[in-house]
Amino acid sequence: NPLDFSGVWRFRELLNFCEDKHRVTVGEGQTLLQQNDELAAFLGMDKGSLHLEYEGMNPSGSFKDNGMTAAFSHAVMVGAKSCACASTGNTSAAVALYAHACGMKCTVFIGSGRIAFGKLSQAMDYGANTIQIQGDFDDCMKQVQEVCTRLNIYLLNSLNPFRLEGQKTIMYRIIEGLGWEVPDWIIVPGGNLGNSSAFGKAFFELKELGLIDRIPRLAIINAAGADTLSYLVNERGLKWNGGNVNMKEVQALYADFTARHFSPHTIASAIEISRPVNLKKCLRSIDICDGIVRKVTDEQICDAKALVGRYGMGCEPASAATIAGLRDMLADGTIGKSERVACVLTGHLLKDPDKTVSYHKNSEGEFSNPPVESANDIEEIIKH
Ligand code: F0G
Repeated sequence: NPLDFSGVWRFRELLNFCEDKHRVTVGEGQTLLQQNDELAAFLGMDKGSLHLEYEGMNPSGSFKDNGMTAAFSHAVMVGAKSCACASTGNTSAAVALYAHACGMKCTVFIGSGRIAFGKLSQAMDYGANTIQIQGDFDDCMKQVQEVCTRLNIYLLNSLNPFRLEGQKTIMYRIIEGLGWEVPDWIIVPGGNLGNSSAFGKAFFELKELGLIDRIPRLAIINAAGADTLSYLVNERGLKWNGGNVNMKEVQALYADFTARHFSPHTIASAIEISRPVNLKKCLRSIDICDGIVRKVTDEQICDAKALVGRYGMGCEPASAATIAGLRDMLADGTIGKSERVACVLTGHLLKDPDKTVSYHKNSEGEFSNPPVESANDIEEIIKH
């Protein structure tokens, strides 16, 4: 059964919203949880403490496939013929892949000049229509919702609750990889806050079902140039408060925030979002998981990305925010060196190679470790 080869659907008893005949799979979720002792040692952590979950190993190269396989199954179940999303790049690549796999028309909305080229090229390859809006992700998100409502198109952003069902499995695989033990911390980048919402739900349900006996703490890392969640939680004291979140007040806080930071900007373009649609669900996750929110600068993100490249298998900038956040939390004692930590590396290194290349160049544009030019001659090659 192909469903048993999917790292999402082999947990299908826990995602029980459709029949097998509706489930769309392209073999997603066959990811790797790596115990990385070298990086742990570099960061001053004990052996066996640090695990990296490589979600870039998914078919479209990011964690999004976990969500798309579930949402597209629902789309098939309800007979959708065309679909759309707004995206900072990875969602568009995943939507385009799954739309192609189930023969659906697909349109992706991206902010002009705001997505990494590797991601745009994927959507093109899979045959999606691309609408490049002169605005940022938040503008795209607003427009795509209106378009989908007016034209009866199936919306695939993480507002879609079935997406979050699929993304719960990232946590199942981490626990499974740890021999069915719960780590002390899960660290995840925060953009539109779909993952952080899904993870809280996953742990809440597993505990209710008696499959785990405790819930790990969740650390959500914003980029400093797109730090709405950090601002709302840490500076304005916003809480889940038993579900009594006043969304009107949140809208006013968003407006206040946007007035202060005109437009979000970070090298981690995947999380360059200032009005996260899953804010309320994420507050609930923070409540469930005794969670915290941190922000890290672009410089910290770039350095952390280089560390994952050197000691691990690499990741894209947004994913490295987790390691940058971990460094800060180790430094100030929030996380102890023997605590067990799992960082979710959300996207593949090759999604955004330009950022890697520019990191290795100095201000004059020269490589620190440049490729050596050689004649096609064996003696000269050996000399080099
Ligand atoms: N990491 C990567 C690599 C992403 O692409 C995204 C989101 C996130 C983290 C943030 O995840 O929204 O669940 O908090 N990318 C979306 C996109 C917005 O359009 O590709 P989140």
